[in-house]
Amino acid sequence: MNNEYLAEFEEQDGYLNFASVGPASRSARRAACELHDEVARGGGSAVGILGSAYEEARAAIARGLGVEEGFATSVPTTSSGIMQIAFGLVGSGGNVVIPANEFPANRYPWLRAEAIGGPAVRVVDVPDGRVTPTALSAAIDADTRLVAVSLVDYMTGFRADIDGIAEAAGDALVLVDGIQGLGAIATGLGSADVFVAGGQKWLRAGFSTGVMGVSGRALERLAPTLTGWWSVEDNHNFEIPPPHAPLATADRFLEGSPNLPGAVAAAAALRVVETGGIAAIEAAVLERSGAVLEIARSLDADVIAPWTSDRERAGIVTFRIPGVDTTSAVEGLSASGFVVAERNGWIRVSPHATTPRGVIDAFGDALRNQVRKA
Ligand SMILES: Cc1ncc(COP(=O)(O)O)c(C=O)c1O
Repeated sequence: MNNEYLAEFEEQDGYLNFASVGPASRSARRAACELHDEVARGGGSAVGILGSAYEEARAAIARGLGVEEGFATSVPTTSSGIMQIAFGLVGSGGNVVIPANEFPANRYPWLRAEAIGGPAVRVVDVPDGRVTPTALSAAIDADTRLVAVSLVDYMTGFRADIDGIAEAAGDALVLVDGIQGLGAIATGLGSADVFVAGGQKWLRAGFSTGVMGVSGRALERLAPTLTGWWSVEDNHNFEIPPPHAPLATADRFLEGSPNLPGAVAAAAALRVVETGGIAAIEAAVLERSGAVLEIARSLDADVIAPWTSDRERAGIVTFRIPGVDTTSAVEGLSASGFVVAERNGWIRVSPHATTPRGVIDAFGDALRNQVRKA
């Protein structure tokens, strides 16, 4: 990785938990702080300055997601973006299709919307962890309004073929929860209709820094159910009583004033990704997670590895070692300076491109020590 990219980060070397939280870059933190400082000065034109800061950030978000301006917005969290979409389908009838083992952020919104008359939720069992077009297609029919999947599964690390799923979805919209990929692998709206991702993990933007990109079809089909005062035409003309017409752009998916500190931090984090070059970042992530995979296999671990090639994985490797208690192993690793996560009795390891390559070897030694101790 180039020095300019590496200089953005300062986490401890043994931090291998980017699938939980990605320590934020200097630029992202600075962008949010500078915005707060601007507001703190209380200049007369603060509203104007803030407005242009948001426009600039939104343009950077659009570029980062590969969409035209007007098709990107900022959201506080992945969940809030998905909620907007789910409630936008209330009144449309039909069904939505989701894999069974999605992270709950991609389940609650559909359940909440269903509870007030939104589309019926069809949950597809994917016992082998392969969220493929074939696995989903049996549940998709002419009444399917939307198919929602994770780009990279939080537990198995499986990377979905979004183009294939979009094809299998037919006329239905496709929503991608991209939080476990954005900032680590090449991605964006592509053939999907909604791409939404919190920035707190691989993007390294800090909390409350979500981004969302939408297609023209999504804008046409989703009702502005949760559209608030800010996201309407002429929103500062208080003489015309509400409701005003919803904005025609993706900003219609805002409930109130834009999440400015989050938007500028996300934009800065996306610029850092540009500095590193997403191809180089992805190669480094795959190389490091591949090395973790080899270590786990060399210890005869049970590895969750539903992929058949590197195209189907990203930065997450999850395993457990027969005869080794996961909780003690995770604690032992932590005592040796390696931060990993425990998920449902499994060890989840998730290095980023900034993880020094030698640290993965040292992690292997520390893991071997845990096996020896058990
Ligand atoms: C796949 C996935 N989606 C979403 C989230 C988080 O959602 P939110 O940004 O709404 O907190 C996580 C993890 O925290 C996740 O792994």
